[in-house]
Amino acid sequence: MTVRSWLTMAREQLELAGVPSAKLESEILLGHSLGLERSFLLSHPDEDIAELPANALLGRRLNGEPLSYLLGFREFYGRRFSVNPDVLIPRHETEEVVEAALGLPLASDAVVVDVGTGSGCIAVICALKRPRWQVFATDISARAIQVASRNSDALGASVQFFTADLLDPMTDEMFDLVISNPPYIGRQEVLESQVADYEPALALFAEDQGLAIIRRLAQAKSKLKPGGWLVMEVGHEQGEPVADIFLEAGWAAVEVRKDLGGRDRILVARAS
Ligand SMILES: C[S@@+](CC[C@H](N)C(=O)[O-])C[C@H]1O[C@@H](n2cnc3c(N)ncnc32)[C@H](O)[C@@H]1O
Repeated sequence: MTVRSWLTMAREQLELAGVPSAKLESEILLGHSLGLERSFLLSHPDEDIAELPANALLGRRLNGEPLSYLLGFREFYGRRFSVNPDVLIPRHETEEVVEAALGLPLASDAVVVDVGTGSGCIAVICALKRPRWQVFATDISARAIQVASRNSDALGASVQFFTADLLDPMTDEMFDLVISNPPYIGRQEVLESQVADYEPALALFAEDQGLAIIRRLAQAKSKLKPGGWLVMEVGHEQGEPVADIFLEAGWAAVEVRKDLGGRDRILVARAS
């Protein structure tokens, strides 16, 4: 089979399966299976290929497996993060959470913790963009911490990782910033199968209509230095209830910011 005929066959099958960027994905899958750049494939359409490895990848994609798990990585904030089914695939919205944190008026040697670090994407980017910050990161999943730690090493970041329930082991530390993309989806919500069937439930769901972990994070005020900040991703329908939770918990200032799609997405709260 030639490059051209495989790409045509794969694109048609992906389109039939409802994959939005079928053409692009077919090129990415073939390039990945052959270890070749897409640009080479596109300029050599008549090249004969060994199609079996590509067919295997295509079959998994048609079954709904996310492209990032098949490739083993995802770009986040311009860097490549290794991912596997132990960690959430980093989302573009979360780059806006990082952006909000980097925009705060923090000291150059701020002490920062990323709670629920997953692949480490938030903590690692913070550490790379602000090399003088002291960055900690926690996750309740030891497997996620392994992935995050490998990503941090591979990208040359300095982050201290802990397998922990939220901030539990941080008894002595006081922070200038707590940043988090916690699990915030209610158990009753129906997700597309490529998310629900493949990404870790621990990373997605929380009790109490998705608010259980967020309620606990509202108590992180006691772990902040005076005037410290919390920046957290929230579900697009959670802006108001989450703001209420933080105001009731006694935070001095609470703001819900929208993402680029105009939906509530980022809570920025300041301790008194
Ligand atoms: C939505 S994912 C976010 C992952 C990563 N920060 C990102 O933005 O892509 C939530 C993460 O929180 C972790 N988590 C869930 N419950 C936790 C808890 N009680 N304490 C610490 N981490 C927790 C999950 O294992 C998961 O890695």
